[in-house]
Amino acid sequence: MRSWIHHAKGRTVRQARVGMGDLTEEHVGRQGFFGPIALIYRTHAPNEVIRVEGTLAPRLAADTSRAEPSDMTDPRGHPEIMLSNADVSVAVSRRAAAMPYAYRNTDGDLLYFVHKGTGIFATEMGRIAYEPGDYVLIPKGITFSLMPAPGDSHMLVVESPSPISLTEHKQTGRYMPVDPTVLVLPEICDYGFPTQSEYELRVKHGGAHSSIYYRNSLLNSVGWKGDLFPYKLNIRDIIPISSDRIHVPPAAWCTFDGGGFAVITFVPQMAVSDLNAEELPGYHRNVDNDESVFVHSDTAGGGRPGYLSHTPQAILHGADEATRRAHQARRVPGSQRTFCGVSVDTDKPLVDSTAFLRLAR
Ligand SMILES: [Fe+2]
Repeated sequence: MRSWIHHAKGRTVRQARVGMGDLTEEHVGRQGFFGPIALIYRTHAPNEVIRVEGTLAPRLAADTSRAEPSDMTDPRGHPEIMLSNADVSVAVSRRAAAMPYAYRNTDGDLLYFVHKGTGIFATEMGRIAYEPGDYVLIPKGITFSLMPAPGDSHMLVVESPSPISLTEHKQTGRYMPVDPTVLVLPEICDYGFPTQSEYELRVKHGGAHSSIYYRNSLLNSVGWKGDLFPYKLNIRDIIPISSDRIHVPPAAWCTFDGGGFAVITFVPQMAVSDLNAEELPGYHRNVDNDESVFVHSDTAGGGRPGYLSHTPQAILHGADEATRRAHQARRVPGSQRTFCGVSVDTDKPLVDSTAFLRLAR
């Protein structure tokens, strides 16, 4: 049962994350950043790992720009799963050629995040052109064909048997951090596909694929209406919920959520102005959540674009003590922080795939 009564013993700071002096602060939290917390203060760094014995890896990071999913070379290929549990999977797609069929996933929703590349999602409700920084949500059962333009279409693919929805942020109203009218909906068009004697529908069902052949194309339609539709959202249209005073916990940056997981977007934001307050994410242990972070870009050079990291629940992480102190000493209030990325945080532990482990450092 949650208690709002907080207690303090020994040396602490008056306000969390402000005026730390010689102390380090470790945040232990339940239920993401929403549940009961403990802030533990020390005069030494708590995250200097010397050795690990056993199978629990504190944090692994895989260079997905070296991933070679089968859709990279085979038009009938698929994304490669990197991390997964019963609620969600995170895969990498690098599709080089158009799907030679219409595709329908009856196992769940698909949420693409475009790291690199351009092209078209040709859906049965019209076309959606994509570019880097786009989320493209294809609801369960909606038929589409992915048609990349020449080049590397490097995407993350989040798949969930439960519906993936835009996160409600009740304290910031209806148009923060996403004004729903910035969503780009599919536009009905004439795809101009050549006439064929039969049209293949490739269906994913129960984890397996089957093909059903139809007399008419399933992608050609002349109109649609309703509240079930694919759409895209570019991360440049996400307004960061930030504070001029202090780093805001990433719970404020949830963009989508589904059953057992949340998708969080890190977008560029202004550096905080209170030089007494901590700016970088501090040491934290989210004991109820696994965390995966994909680096989309970081013009300041801190993050490694294309890397996907996995931190199991209860593993301490955050900027190390030397990095934190160096950053505090040189930071400039009002400057632009450039890190841009996508995080999938899950309630159930994530399993590292063989491909992920092969690409991990
Ligand atoms: Fe974290």
